[in-house]
Amino acid sequence: MQWIATCPHETVDVLASELHALGVQEQNKFYRGIMFDCDLETAYRAHLLLRTASRIQRVVAKFELSDLATLQTALKKIFWPNWLRNQRAFTVTPTLADLSAQKLDEAAIVTAVVQSVQKSAFEKAPPKFNPEADNPITIVLFIRDGSCVLGIDTAGRALHKRGWRTQGHPAVLKETLAASILMLAGYTGDEPLVEPMCGSGTIAIEAAYLALNKAPLIHRGKDDFSLEHLAGFDRPLWRRVGDQLRAQKKSALAAPIYASDIKSEFIEVARASALRARVEKYINFSVTPFQDLVPPAPRGVLVANLPYGERIGGGTIDQLYREVGGVIKQRFSAWRVALLVPSEAPIHLLALKATKEISLRNGALPVKLLMVER
Ligand SMILES: C[S@@+](CC[C@H](N)C(=O)[O-])C[C@H]1O[C@@H](n2cnc3c(N)ncnc32)[C@H](O)[C@@H]1O
Repeated sequence: MQWIATCPHETVDVLASELHALGVQEQNKFYRGIMFDCDLETAYRAHLLLRTASRIQRVVAKFELSDLATLQTALKKIFWPNWLRNQRAFTVTPTLADLSAQKLDEAAIVTAVVQSVQKSAFEKAPPKFNPEADNPITIVLFIRDGSCVLGIDTAGRALHKRGWRTQGHPAVLKETLAASILMLAGYTGDEPLVEPMCGSGTIAIEAAYLALNKAPLIHRGKDDFSLEHLAGFDRPLWRRVGDQLRAQKKSALAAPIYASDIKSEFIEVARASALRARVEKYINFSVTPFQDLVPPAPRGVLVANLPYGERIGGGTIDQLYREVGGVIKQRFSAWRVALLVPSEAPIHLLALKATKEISLRNGALPVKLLMVER
């Protein structure tokens, strides 16, 4: 069985290492994703366990696609009742990924796929095409270099939507990006972690999941993943995989996690999310300005997502960056440090010698992960 996991291009290697840990050897990296082969059981584990994937697709067919006629010929070979069930509405999203693909008529591609589904010999009525339906099954076409990969999105809602987020912070990180940052920082749960500008707590909550070996999507409700609505869905196997992952969760942390912020209202948001994520008891929350931070252990990992914008509380960004750099140099000199900052930020004012700089994106914003490794 062939699958595709997608992610931001900058974190493809992190996703590759996650797949490797799942036992997936054969991987083919491409722009914003990885195509891989694995059996159904491993794929089910991947849906519940991958921390950095945005979406997952099952590959249905790969074929040459130069014009509408070649698409229609390829579609004739797909027996849709092997893939779709008729209870669930579906939609079609083509990605025309290069100039020659962009010469194709997108609406005609969608119509060709819809007609091919509706002409297939379903036992009852074929599934309905309805892009406006709640969480429809999505048939995805990725067209580039004169060829097409046609797949079905098996995740449904994007995988960063873990289900625990409480609203109330204006600048949250995506959960998948938070997990990528932790992995890039080499965090495994074996050392103390400090997150001193935690905002809504995304990094600390993801850290608790990682450290506890807890599957990030394990609390999604029944029927939430699209794969549960596809032909060939194996409910007993899906349940068994979920039970195995639940059993593999550790009951205690090997090292403590500390999360703080200068604003008490954000700590309340973070606490509420951690509670919904069922990891609140594993995180030591406090309202503490970075300037007052004291290392809770001789060594550990400090991960911070620094604020953007001109004015923070009473002071300026310049002043804050100088103070953050000073605290790290004076009090955290034995700690490994990873700071996520906007590329435009006054990074030089931190006056830290980064051992590595990794370019990432926080939504549309270019950011850098500055690492000080010890
Ligand atoms: C970009 S946000 C972090 C968002 C967080 N990663 C999330 O996913 O919600 C930066 C945070 O730094 C906090 N902050 C600003 N100045 C601070 C200071 N001097 N000490 C501690 N926290 C501070 C802000 O209150 C804000 O919540």
